[in-house]
Amino acid sequence: MTIGADSALHRIIDAIDALSSTAASHQRTFVVEVMGRHCGYLALMSAIAGGCDYALFPENPPAQGWETEMCASLKAGREAGRRDSMVIVAEGAADQTGKPITAEYVRQTLQDQLGEDARVTILGHVQRGGTPSAYDRWASTWLGYEAARAVLGDGEQDSGVVFGFRENRIARLPLIESVANTQNVPTLIKAKNFERAMQARGGSFQENAALFAELATPAPAATPANPRRLGIIHAGGLAPGMNSAAQAAVRLGVNRGFVPLGVSGGFPGLRDGQVRELAWNDVEGWVSEGGAELGLRRHVPDEDELYEISRTIDENEIDALLILGGWNAYMAAHLLWRERDHFPALRIPMMCVPLSIDNNLPGSELAIGADTALNVIVEAIDRIKGSGAASQRAFVVETMGRNCGYLAMMSAIATGAERVYLPEEGITLAQLADDVKYLRLSFSAGRQLFLAIRSEGANAKYTTDFISRIFDEESQDLYDVRQNILGHIQQGGNPSPFDRLLATRLVSRAITAIQENLEAGEFPIQYLGLVNGHVEVTDIGQLRRQIDAKAGRPNAQWWLSLRQVNAAVNEPSF
Ligand code: F6P
Repeated sequence: MTIGADSALHRIIDAIDALSSTAASHQRTFVVEVMGRHCGYLALMSAIAGGCDYALFPENPPAQGWETEMCASLKAGREAGRRDSMVIVAEGAADQTGKPITAEYVRQTLQDQLGEDARVTILGHVQRGGTPSAYDRWASTWLGYEAARAVLGDGEQDSGVVFGFRENRIARLPLIESVANTQNVPTLIKAKNFERAMQARGGSFQENAALFAELATPAPAATPANPRRLGIIHAGGLAPGMNSAAQAAVRLGVNRGFVPLGVSGGFPGLRDGQVRELAWNDVEGWVSEGGAELGLRRHVPDEDELYEISRTIDENEIDALLILGGWNAYMAAHLLWRERDHFPALRIPMMCVPLSIDNNLPGSELAIGADTALNVIVEAIDRIKGSGAASQRAFVVETMGRNCGYLAMMSAIATGAERVYLPEEGITLAQLADDVKYLRLSFSAGRQLFLAIRSEGANAKYTTDFISRIFDEESQDLYDVRQNILGHIQQGGNPSPFDRLLATRLVSRAITAIQENLEAGEFPIQYLGLVNGHVEVTDIGQLRRQIDAKAGRPNAQWWLSLRQVNAAVNEPSF
């Protein structure tokens, strides 16, 4: 993952979302050209995150006759209920003979073969400009920190390394080999070694290419005689990406031979029998929508409700349950696991997929929804900082996160906050006194703006209001203070490209694991997520060991090591 790619994806997805609404209302076809030179990353990822129908990119050049296959695929999509068609063309796309494929050629083909009045949008250099995304800010700051440490001799003493990102972790790679690998891709494509070109892009690129092919196919490969019935339920607080996850669950479920069943309104809905079959086209457009169309509740059932929950599972012949949600979803799954000896209907495979803006779930270093919330916070803070540009002002901004400081920590790095107050560390009066000292000192030396970020759970008594009043009372007229509690804007909004992609990938893996369990006749209750760059599945029996139940967060939190990055880069020492 190179710095800048995520911001470019933001630009592309904003454009695709905007085009989708006009395309859908006019039942139209759009052909969108994206940048990337010889690399199809932007094309492939935007095709998945934008819910597109067809993608042409350099590493996977289509064989002769692809035009007919593309038209048949778009036609099948329309017949299955799609309101629009969207084709993504990478600027370096070519067919297997090496003949370049242009957006205009695709448009002409659609007009000739389907009679479609398609429109072309070439996104061009807007993709390389604009505000960097939250990920590109915290990731580049961390990368710069590690690189500087290595050069200064504080880190591991390697020379000839390149620091890169694999998922959410820094990877040190041999420079010569990495450059050779990257440069090798166009050579492999030229030599028609397409398989190796795809391999050279890495495992998750290949996984995503296969996923896109599956998602864009609007029909099951083969309908089994006795399709398994897959329940899909949300629980916990709202997280952007719930709809993306539900869409992936329904479409991948159908394609893999399941009958998807949507449970409305979380566990109370399951208790009350609110279950309906969902078809491929029932989830059209959900990938890009915030909210949770299925409905959700925070409610964790108690033992008295398990009889009715079991009855719903029996009556609807639910063979497996996909639980898409946050902390309370995991608590509910744990209860079902504990009680399954008393309720045989609960002896079906279940899988929790992590969705929470708080990023406070075990078994995954990142929860779906946190990246979107982070982008909302960073955008809000940019504006807040802008408002204070002409005056001497200290801002105290409060983020959500309950007892997990992830959003506060990462937004501090991404916005250059000089202070960050985390639930993991608490707040002391002595620390606030130091902060006041620093505020006076630096404003009297000419500072214009100060930014502190406080996670909502940092201290129950030293609230954002309390801290702001202390800073204000002690200002000696050197600066004034404003507080901003960002509130529920953090839960809303459309999911970021990163969250859409993570949702799609994790749901795909969840369904695969469920399938394997069904085939093996096993019925574990599990959760899955990203661990050190890989997707891992954990048995729910590990839950109590992995979490601090009282604090409401995992015991191990990888991102806490970034505390020192903020301290080195943004926080003053005096
Ligand atoms: O758990 C997600 C979360 O957004 C927390 O960060 C926040 O404390 C809480 O939900 C807000 O809850 P509600 O939407 O019920 O006000």
